[in-house]
Amino acid sequence: MSPQPQEAVGAPLSRVDGRLKVTGQAAYAADHGPDAGIDGIVHAVVVTSSVGRGRITAIDTGAAEAQSGVLKVISHRNAPTLPYRPNPGSLNLPGERLHVFQDDQVHFHGQPVAVVVATTLEAAQHAAGLLRVDYDAQQPVTDLTGAPANEPATAYTRGDAEAAFNAAPVRMEMTYRLSRTHHNAMEPHATIARWTGARVTVWEKTQWVQSTRDELAAVFGIPATDVRVISPFVGGAFGNAARCWPHTVIAALAARETGRPVKLVLTRKQLYSGVGFRPAYQYKVRLGSDRDGRLTAMTHDLRAETSRYERFSERGVMSPGQMLYTTPNVSQAHRTVPLDVNTPTPMRGPGYSTAAFPIESAIDELAHELGIDPIELRLRNEPDNDQASGLPFSTRRLRECLNTGAREFGWSRRDPKPSSTRDGDWLIGIGMATAVYDTLRAPAQARVRLNADGTALVESATSDMGPGTYTSMTQIAADALGLEVRAVTFRLGDTIMPPAPVHGGSLTMASIGSTVQDGCDKLRLQAIQLAVEDTKSPLHGAAPDDVVVRDGRLHLKDDPGRGETYRQLLSRNSRTHLEADGVYTPARPQASMYAYGAVFAEVAVDRRLGLVRVRRMLAVYDAGRIISPKLADSQAIGGMVGGISAALLEHTVTDPRDGRIANANLADYLVPVNADVPQLKAIYLDGRDDTADPIGVKGLGEVVLVGVAPAIANAVFHATGRRIRQLPITIDALL
Ligand code: MOS
Repeated sequence: MSPQPQEAVGAPLSRVDGRLKVTGQAAYAADHGPDAGIDGIVHAVVVTSSVGRGRITAIDTGAAEAQSGVLKVISHRNAPTLPYRPNPGSLNLPGERLHVFQDDQVHFHGQPVAVVVATTLEAAQHAAGLLRVDYDAQQPVTDLTGAPANEPATAYTRGDAEAAFNAAPVRMEMTYRLSRTHHNAMEPHATIARWTGARVTVWEKTQWVQSTRDELAAVFGIPATDVRVISPFVGGAFGNAARCWPHTVIAALAARETGRPVKLVLTRKQLYSGVGFRPAYQYKVRLGSDRDGRLTAMTHDLRAETSRYERFSERGVMSPGQMLYTTPNVSQAHRTVPLDVNTPTPMRGPGYSTAAFPIESAIDELAHELGIDPIELRLRNEPDNDQASGLPFSTRRLRECLNTGAREFGWSRRDPKPSSTRDGDWLIGIGMATAVYDTLRAPAQARVRLNADGTALVESATSDMGPGTYTSMTQIAADALGLEVRAVTFRLGDTIMPPAPVHGGSLTMASIGSTVQDGCDKLRLQAIQLAVEDTKSPLHGAAPDDVVVRDGRLHLKDDPGRGETYRQLLSRNSRTHLEADGVYTPARPQASMYAYGAVFAEVAVDRRLGLVRVRRMLAVYDAGRIISPKLADSQAIGGMVGGISAALLEHTVTDPRDGRIANANLADYLVPVNADVPQLKAIYLDGRDDTADPIGVKGLGEVVLVGVAPAIANAVFHATGRRIRQLPITIDALL
């Protein structure tokens, strides 16, 4: 088949849904109502535990039930038994998910203990405040330090790291700490649930409609075909809308018990215990190297928090230690530590950004110890193939990322001596780190329909939590169909659409992009076939391979004058539309596939106040083909802002006395504001990775967070000579 001209792909398009979003017309989960055919919505307010561990001894619902407008108060005392069938396919973890209102046990502070349903939100809120819950409280354990761990969730060895470390001319041992952090997306988690007989429809904030459908089916013991999940817009998620959380079950339960459509929106405070978070870590690294900085041994001992009822271990956290640098001897153990907390979950750059802070800090420490430039040290340890899998790299252009970044950032002007550059009272430092994230792909399907008027509709049950799925899929479809962007509509976020994997792990572009391209290619070929077989078509008798489509017109590649439009072709053949199904099934990996990056940061540290300001950042990415440059920049800048946040600001503070989260609001949980964010720049190395997937992409949304925090931490060291082995680097740590 003749390759289609690529005009939409690679163009700096603005979001096709941008106008809907900025004019308030985009309907997020809680926005649905009569316009979506949902009438008579009532409101649910969740009541959460005020103790961190223990047992509910009494619930006095009298005052709440007497409040006018209250329809029902549901707790473990009156909730029906729910089947909670096993459902390992929906990101459920080893252990058992929290069963809502099924017993009197309290596992963490902020656990749902009751829900109040009322005709107005105000009545439900007021009644929730009137509920009296008594507890038999115990002392919760919420701090990772000193708490006993499970057996290693995962372990890895190659060579003999212990012996090699002991024999190494240079040995370093460091322990790094990462604080617990929460996703804090703008849109709170929200659900509207409506039952029609035995079937339920939920309007939901989710990164994976299919997973929510399957989980509700499992919890309520009904067929998945009786559950429909609709989620057209998601106002940020960063991983915490990838699984179905208890509040969704509560909304569905409340709707079933009251026989009314129920809307449930978690409060900002409830978002800190109602959905997951990035777990706190202790990460001990030992490096052995020769005097030239060649790594001979690395050991990694990780301890990460999880809940007592589920074992969450971050996927990918072990990978960088295995494949980022040449090291013949590696040993790793990753232990989870069960605490009286709710279950953690992936958060942007999961695993890889966690591991990047200790590893990229440790490499910087080694470089300083040896007096070798940190970039040079990395280049000396750059592997030829993947030492973990033994596979060749599909594409790995990390050297180019490092060298390009060094050149563009002015690395050569850096005086390697820490604390050597000043600007008045500010100490100036420059640091860098590498970034890596694996290229995931998953089976996906799409449906493509070309209408007789020359417009097209493409559907897949994926999601768009912000990266711009609507736009990038429209671009791919437009080029593959040979249509203008405005003639193509892409729809997502509904379980009645062809199935798609989780919108996470940077797999959406590769997976949905490939299935969209497949469906559109099939449809284009169907139209071309129709034309070349049609005696009335100017293309009759042409070889299908010689035909391309542009702006809705099929024509000979070498003779653009000979052709006709889709509209002419379809109307002459009395066809209202053509349809095709896209299918993408990832090939078994024959190569080691990762996206890479090099991140550079310049900071200024007030030597008297300990205040850190990021002055500029640059990152260079090897992420394969860039489908949508403008959206890629939004991703990269968002990732860098998230990294500034992780490096310097955000952490969840838990009161050890009762497990209460002390800063469960956006005033006390610090995230960067405009004044914290300097000029940020991202560069993408041109190129495709054709081993990875048919459209040559490696994924960008996750790798852009990885490496940012350690680049800043390394810059802080360069500025001050102080090595802070804990995130975030707060003012007090530098005083
Ligand atoms: Mo991403 S943490 O898989 O949404």
